[in-house]
Amino acid sequence: FGSRLHLLESTSSTQIEAIKLAEEGAEAGTLVISDMQTNGRGRLGRNWFSPAGKGIWMSLVLRPELPVRFMPQLTLLTGVAVCSAIRKVTGVEAGLKWPNDILVNGRKVCGILLEAATEDNKVRYCIAGIGIDVNLSELDYPEDLRSIATSLKIESGTSVSRSRLIGEVMNQLEARYLQYENEGFAPILKEWEALSASIGKQVRSVTLNQVIEGTAIGLSDSGGLMVLTEEGKNSTIFSGEVEIIQ
Ligand code: BTN
Repeated sequence: FGSRLHLLESTSSTQIEAIKLAEEGAEAGTLVISDMQTNGRGRLGRNWFSPAGKGIWMSLVLRPELPVRFMPQLTLLTGVAVCSAIRKVTGVEAGLKWPNDILVNGRKVCGILLEAATEDNKVRYCIAGIGIDVNLSELDYPEDLRSIATSLKIESGTSVSRSRLIGEVMNQLEARYLQYENEGFAPILKEWEALSASIGKQVRSVTLNQVIEGTAIGLSDSGGLMVLTEEGKNSTIFSGEVEIIQ
């Protein structure tokens, strides 16, 4: 992974560049990195703050031979790989918030966005977008992000080499991807649980038609978040946003 590299100074979104390359036939493992993004995209239609020189904004082309319904597993796999890489390179105790945010001390340090092009319920290609706040200082953040976002530099007290971290993320992703092909999802699920910042916590999920509140107790086989509600009912959350209450 990452041996075919497109390094950009600025782009609207590395997702858009990677989708273009994938449509033109780029092979799996093709990586697009940009020093800044003018229109970085987040999950659920949100914007992703992507200032120059301070973060890792990158998108990886994947071509898994998978039915679409396995995409959530790939999303969790990506989270495990990035979280492990952050821990290894920086020593910072990063944790996973379901489905795939990476938090340090309750604040978000990394966001992951998987977008797939599909055909007949199969994945044609998938773009794994990874945004890591590496060397931002408190003052680099707009006010509305200051209390919810953080960077590896803020948390570790020193600047972190972006190229080293990118290299480690690619190593980890490649290793997990192979493991997934050979051993299936079970080992990744275990790792996700071990790196989780959600499990054991009180969580709330609000979707269009229901509110689920309770203690997160683990992942289901397909990658949903299992919650034990106060009434003693087991519910599994499959999509949307989950808030950690305490
Ligand atoms: C989230 O909402 O948490 C996901 C954020 C994903 C951001 C990354 S930065 C690189 C890639 N390009 C984008 O426009 N978004 C993703």
